[in-house]
Amino acid sequence: MERERVLSRATEFARAFHEGEASGHDWPHIERVVRMARRLAAAEGADPFVCELAALLHDVADEKLNPSKEEGLARVREWLQAESVEAETAGHVMDIISTMSYGAGENTPMRTAEGRVVRDADRLDAIGAIAIARTFVYAGWKGHPIHDPALPPREQMTREQYRHGKTTAINHFYEKLLKLKRLLHTETAKTIADERHRFMENYLEQFHKEWNGDA
Ligand code: ADP
Ligand code: NI
Repeated sequence: MERERVLSRATEFARAFHEGEASGHDWPHIERVVRMARRLAAAEGADPFVCELAALLHDVADEKLNPSKEEGLARVREWLQAESVEAETAGHVMDIISTMSYGAGENTPMRTAEGRVVRDADRLDAIGAIAIARTFVYAGWKGHPIHDPALPPREQMTREQYRHGKTTAINHFYEKLLKLKRLLHTETAKTIADERHRFMENYLEQFHKEWNGDA
């Protein structure tokens, strides 16, 4: 009962925080990550309460939505304290949230099964049909073009191109999205990712054909 109360309070808190967000961290993203975290937790034998709580709160601390990473994490920590979430659970949730982001280092090991579940659930939302939509929304929000054959993926950019900090929506697939499948932790997520990954590859193949007037 206490757990249900904490989850419904966390839902209200996260919804209020993310509502109206246009950077790819909108409330429906959180809802999808929560649903996937529940599914992965059940399949992987992880604690569903910790997984769901961490999934609900994971982007409240996001660097893009806070003045700094530290202030983002403090926002979550203070909320957990204010809601009197027991210390062990609060510590576990903070540990997951502070280590899970892609920016924190793509191969930072997650210490617990719950951490692996929540990170995989978040990463799965960046692979597949919905991920394609999120990528174009994000690129539009940043003012990046859809595609520019003269601008290669970041790894291959000249120093001058890199310095301008510009990329394109299509480049983002090569810079990040197509790499995510290999970074997943759980077998359940890897299986789900296979089909989504293939969908993105097919999409890109068709995109380039149309771009060149071949399809
Ligand atoms: P996370 O939810 O793991 O914190 P990000 O904050 O990196 O992910 O990104 C949120 C969404 O925006 C993802 O779907 C991601 O693919 C997309 N995105 C991030 N950076 C870019 C970019 N430079 N161009 C296009 N899409 C991006
Ligand atoms: Ni997220």
